[in-house]
Amino acid sequence: MIKIAVFASGNGSNAQRIVEYFYDSKHISVDLIITNNKSAYVIERAKLLKIPCYVFSKNEFSNSNLVIELLKSHNISLIVLAGFLLLIPENLIANFKERIINIHPALLPKYGGKGMYGENVHKAVVINKESETGITIHYVNEKYDEGKIIFQAKCVVSERDTAEDVAKKIHLLEQEYFPKVIENICQGLLKTQ
Ligand code: GAR
Repeated sequence: MIKIAVFASGNGSNAQRIVEYFYDSKHISVDLIITNNKSAYVIERAKLLKIPCYVFSKNEFSNSNLVIELLKSHNISLIVLAGFLLLIPENLIANFKERIINIHPALLPKYGGKGMYGENVHKAVVINKESETGITIHYVNEKYDEGKIIFQAKCVVSERDTAEDVAKKIHLLEQEYFPKVIENICQGLLKTQ
């Protein structure tokens, strides 16, 4: 069995989609949702989905082993960042080598790095008159958005698109591809068990 922990800082639509996608799976399950934001809507979603949800402060994330201990106690094999905005600390990366992935709402290496999240990314794409954008799923290292790329998917940006229009297109790509890419990674991990 591959157990997943999803980390999210805000709305949590990706977290919900991932939980629902694996609901009936015999080999893959989402066992934990973790957030750094005590008012994140993902907490409500976790309640409705009946998935245990834990809130940690920025300090607990960055300067303690509490998160690692929780993940180990639940036998988590894969960490999925789905709209999680804190930098992942070195001790967590060392304990989950090649087992932390992130989704970014742009075609990295474009529009990545600190401060580039959510609507900031879509606004920049529109201001720069890009003709296409997309999503990137990548492994996480100690720098924002710089780990090895696993998957990208593109969409067209038309001249009339607003940042909200781009957000909708990105959302559709995320809902379609993120669970499938996670499933592929988990199938690889299952073979090593
Ligand atoms: C998603 O679009 C995700 O790609 C983005 O935040 C959104 C979270 O939405 N992540 C980043 O910008 C990370 N740099 P959600 O909370 O509804 O899943």
